[in-house]
Amino acid sequence: MYSTAFLDIPPLLSAGGTVSLPGSKSISNRVLLLAALSMGATDVKDLLDSDDTRVMLDALRQLGCTIQHRGEGHLTVTGIGGKLPVTNAKLFLGNAGTAMRPLTAALALLASVHGGRFELSGIARMHERPIGDLVEALRSLGCPVEYLGNEGYPPLAVGNGTPVALTLDKPIKVRGDVSSQFLTALLLALPLVSSLGDKGQTIKIDVVGELISRPYIEITLKLLSRFGVNIERKDWSRFVISAGSRYLSPGEIPVEGDASSASYFVALGAIAPATPGYDGVTIEGVGLSSIQGDIRFVEAAQAMGAEVTSEANRLHVRRGQWPLKAIDLDCNHIPDAAMTLAVMALYADGPSTLRNIASWRVKETDRIAAMAIECRKLGAKVEEGDDFIRITPPTAWSTAPIHTYDDHRVAMCFSLAAFNPARLPVRIDDPKCVGKTFPDYFEALFDICEARTDDVPVICVDGPSASGKGTLAAELATRLGYHLLDSGALYRLVGIAAQKRQWSTEEADLQHEAHAAQIAELAANLDVRFTAEAIFLDNEDVSEAVRSEAAGMAASRVSSLPEVRKALFDLQHQFRQLPGLVADGRDMGTTIFPNAPLKVYLTADARQRAERRHKQLISKGISANIDSLYADLLARDKRDSSRQHAPLKPAEDAELLDNSSMTIEDSVEQVMRWWQSRQQVFASK
Ligand code: DC
Repeated sequence: MYSTAFLDIPPLLSAGGTVSLPGSKSISNRVLLLAALSMGATDVKDLLDSDDTRVMLDALRQLGCTIQHRGEGHLTVTGIGGKLPVTNAKLFLGNAGTAMRPLTAALALLASVHGGRFELSGIARMHERPIGDLVEALRSLGCPVEYLGNEGYPPLAVGNGTPVALTLDKPIKVRGDVSSQFLTALLLALPLVSSLGDKGQTIKIDVVGELISRPYIEITLKLLSRFGVNIERKDWSRFVISAGSRYLSPGEIPVEGDASSASYFVALGAIAPATPGYDGVTIEGVGLSSIQGDIRFVEAAQAMGAEVTSEANRLHVRRGQWPLKAIDLDCNHIPDAAMTLAVMALYADGPSTLRNIASWRVKETDRIAAMAIECRKLGAKVEEGDDFIRITPPTAWSTAPIHTYDDHRVAMCFSLAAFNPARLPVRIDDPKCVGKTFPDYFEALFDICEARTDDVPVICVDGPSASGKGTLAAELATRLGYHLLDSGALYRLVGIAAQKRQWSTEEADLQHEAHAAQIAELAANLDVRFTAEAIFLDNEDVSEAVRSEAAGMAASRVSSLPEVRKALFDLQHQFRQLPGLVADGRDMGTTIFPNAPLKVYLTADARQRAERRHKQLISKGISANIDSLYADLLARDKRDSSRQHAPLKPAEDAELLDNSSMTIEDSVEQVMRWWQSRQQVFASK
């Protein structure tokens, strides 16, 4: 996941390959709750790991459920079986509507039957999302519910600590036109009380007003039936839970891939030319027979021009008609995925209108306003109303930082604007908000997208040994979400690989052509793997060895061989991948990436550098002598800058940074300022 302040997506060129979807958010949280309310253990597979499921799991644990992790996306939930092992808890539910609403209903009922009191709260935005209609319905049954902040909104408390009698014989009325989650919450929770009394109690729910987002109710009903509760539906206005209904664990239940998340990749396939060698985009995790309503996004995408075929659990998407065809669509049946249509509309042959989307206004953010503001930044003309949005594609594209309103869907949608014909990069602010449903969204996107090599930015940080360039480069890469190339490590690895084979790296021996050729051959075929934590050479963890002074000296010697430098050229270029690269070394700016948009040449006084290296070694428990470190540094500086090939020197267009008296933080800030000043396209409008 990108935890950077912003993520710059370079202009994208094509797409091709396969993406595996994370589990569906709606299914994951419903399944977790149902498993928690059931008797016995349920094995849940392919569960979504995201902010919203995490808060649900935390809440269930607090309520006394046992949850065992079995592997990635696989856990076993042992339910409370309609009992209430914990009668008092404060639950924090983040911004997860799919946790807040059903838990409010379930706990209100359980607290009323068994006696108990629970407080439910979330982040500030959660406290702006209405829940009054659900509370009214619960109060009509006799459940004590108290608002702890504003009337009609969380935080709230359910139950008053003692059992209360519930009135279940009259139909329960609930509004259906604000959020379908109120009805879902009641449907999921009310079977809890259908066994009360001698003969149990048939429970009727009447929907008041037009029921929106019906497909989500279908998911609820289908999952309830997997858990042994069959609810009778009369049109979309009455739901009947028969007396004595009981949740019965299905034993094992797989979670489908998220159909709303699929929409970004369906759109990608429709918008992006196929990468040569690929037949478009393949999406694994859902097929057209999915139980999720958002799968019908596919029809809308097809209407706009996408070519889609489906297998059991998989979709293939290819670009068809281009430009896309504008549409005018009632989107009530695909409220979440419809946001993706708004971005597809930017590539259409005329204005598109998305109607019946009033629910957008009460989601993670006011999504109608958000989509309008952000589409305008790209040059589109946008009209918005209470329940519609009309988007006219840009005649001239522009770009500006996309604000994401802590809304995962806004962030994911606008990544698709990177295919704009003006080849402008797109900046997504706060990219980590995708963690709500798709933590690795951007990684998955970059994995199957291509950009022109020159459009993938490289920041070069060159300089002498111990100037702090490694630390600076790593910090820049972290701040920008870019890949990191520690080119020194490659030369060090060549040195280590040679020594492992007992090949000399002494200067005199390297003079022999055959020996030099052998080492170059080794460099060209290095079996290295970099992970976030370690460096592997021939599958052996060499992270420690690579950093040793001996490896540094060996590197300095083998790196003076032009054959070795040539052998490592391609390997270094392979690091230039989306969304960008920070490369540190000696010749990044002069030889390897001469067209890099930012080159920094970092120096510091040699004494100063010797002291820093000394400190570093001591802190790792390695004994060292400043004077000999100083002498070594001077020797390396001399060799690195006097060698014939790619000697250490600043590129002509490099920014010089002497950090002798600067902190790392100061250096990072300085380079970030240089970088931002080269990103004038993102100057805020
Ligand atoms: O940056 P470092 O200390 O890890 O580099 C080790 C040696 O590798 C350095 O003395 C010179 C060589 N090197 C190089 O020649 N070119 C690079 N781009 C990086 C390192």
